[in-house]
Amino acid sequence: MDQSEKKKLAARAAIDQIESGIKLGVGSGSTVNYFIDLLPEVKNKIDNVVSSSEATSERLKKNGFEISELSEVGDLDLYIDGADEVNQNLQLIKGGGGALTREKILAAASYKFVCIIDDSKLVDTLGKFPLPVEVIPMARSYVSRQFIKIGGKPILREGFITDNGNQIIDIQSLMITNPEIMEDRLSRIPGVVTVGIFAYRGADIILSSGKTGLKIINK
Ligand code: 5RP
Repeated sequence: MDQSEKKKLAARAAIDQIESGIKLGVGSGSTVNYFIDLLPEVKNKIDNVVSSSEATSERLKKNGFEISELSEVGDLDLYIDGADEVNQNLQLIKGGGGALTREKILAAASYKFVCIIDDSKLVDTLGKFPLPVEVIPMARSYVSRQFIKIGGKPILREGFITDNGNQIIDIQSLMITNPEIMEDRLSRIPGVVTVGIFAYRGADIILSSGKTGLKIINK
């Protein structure tokens, strides 16, 4: 099974998580795109869909869904999203696609967060994947200097603007041994909008697909 087949398998398993009358949040990325393309199969079960990015909204609309605003529907029953790294405590690095701010909001506003990955995303320690941080453009240099002070190597994602009009700095060379402390520490820097560590609100369930099939990892 290649990586795209693994992603499809995890996406298919997420469809089974959908119960009738649900308010659903939808993340972003290639794994989620497979999920969105399967979503019409259970359209009649879904009361509201809230999207985490412009790209996801567009794909949902193409599949026949109307998008609801989070502020109109209140808390969500279920949030489905991918991740760039997942540790044993179901804490994540997200933001490879740059949609981390809205993703973090939807994850926080959801009773259940089901994360869909292929098994290459499972790690012992977060940080091999460069940590995405959304920053206010005018604070970019200041914020980067603070990242250097804590041992990171900040790289500006050239030519990329988030759906919120901000920039992304990817921090290389961070060993995130205590994800909560690092999430707090980086989030406190003025100019940082969102840190791509999802430690306080990690996933509740991981659907991880590998060579031998699907593995369900519960908290
Ligand atoms: C987007 C994300 C994605 O969930 C993450 O990058 C994983 O993407 P993919 O499913 O394409 O591997 O956080 O901001």
